[in-house]
Amino acid sequence: MSQHNPELQAPHQPNPEEAIRPDAPDFIETPEVATVSDETERLPLWLFFLCGFALFMAGSSFTGFNTFGLGLYDQGPGGPALGPGGSGPDVVVTDPVALGKKIYNGNCANCHHADGEGQPGVYPPMGGSEYVLGSKERLAALLLHGISGPITVRGGSYGSAVMPGWAISFTDDQMADLMTYLRKSWGNTANEAKADEVSAARAKFASKADAYCEADLQKIAPNGPDPSDTKK
Ligand code: HEC
Repeated sequence: MSQHNPELQAPHQPNPEEAIRPDAPDFIETPEVATVSDETERLPLWLFFLCGFALFMAGSSFTGFNTFGLGLYDQGPGGPALGPGGSGPDVVVTDPVALGKKIYNGNCANCHHADGEGQPGVYPPMGGSEYVLGSKERLAALLLHGISGPITVRGGSYGSAVMPGWAISFTDDQMADLMTYLRKSWGNTANEAKADEVSAARAKFASKADAYCEADLQKIAPNGPDPSDTKK
């Protein structure tokens, strides 16, 4: 009679089913340890973005890119040239011809055209015009107060349109830059205009209420070079 005697069994065979029981002693701590280490090793989000930003700023300094216009990595006069001809984005334009050209293209070119030729019979030319090349006082006067009526410019007749005055549109400096641009472009080689010449003309012709006609302009000065133009 072979009866199964529990006493004769091997002391304790580990039951594979039992080993993976969640409440088995070995498994109580393991999951907690795993959870803690997972939390501590995660890279904080702010640190991630800080690194990214630092890389961006460092990279932009090598490419010469002016980060957000802050000039943080401006290397001064000894640094590499950032623009054509060595002029960086911070260089202030002081050339009166360049400044005057901007004013002309923004305010005058729609009628007189960028090439200064205007339109036959309607808008008189700038290149070779006796009003541009002559007396600066007369040029300032007609620009400040405008012109209307028949006028002859470079042999052509005009008068079908009117030019309003620009007195309140520009400062003395801007008007001087504009006049200098007119006098030195499209083949013109007259001398430059100064802000004090414009302010003197403003004061002298302040009482002029309407636009000039040709006869009034010829009374201010006849055609011919400005007295200050010593090259002529
Ligand atoms: C709306 C069109 C118009 C605009 C804009 C205009 N002008 Fe004129 N300008 C004229 C007309 C038209 C005449 C001639 C008026 C006449 O026939 O009596 C004239 C005449 C002149 C003259 C004298 C004649 C000559 O050719 O030398 C000068 C100088 C002149 N303009 C400069 C300028 C300047 C500088 C600007 C910009 C600040 C300007 N004009 C903007 C229409 C314009």
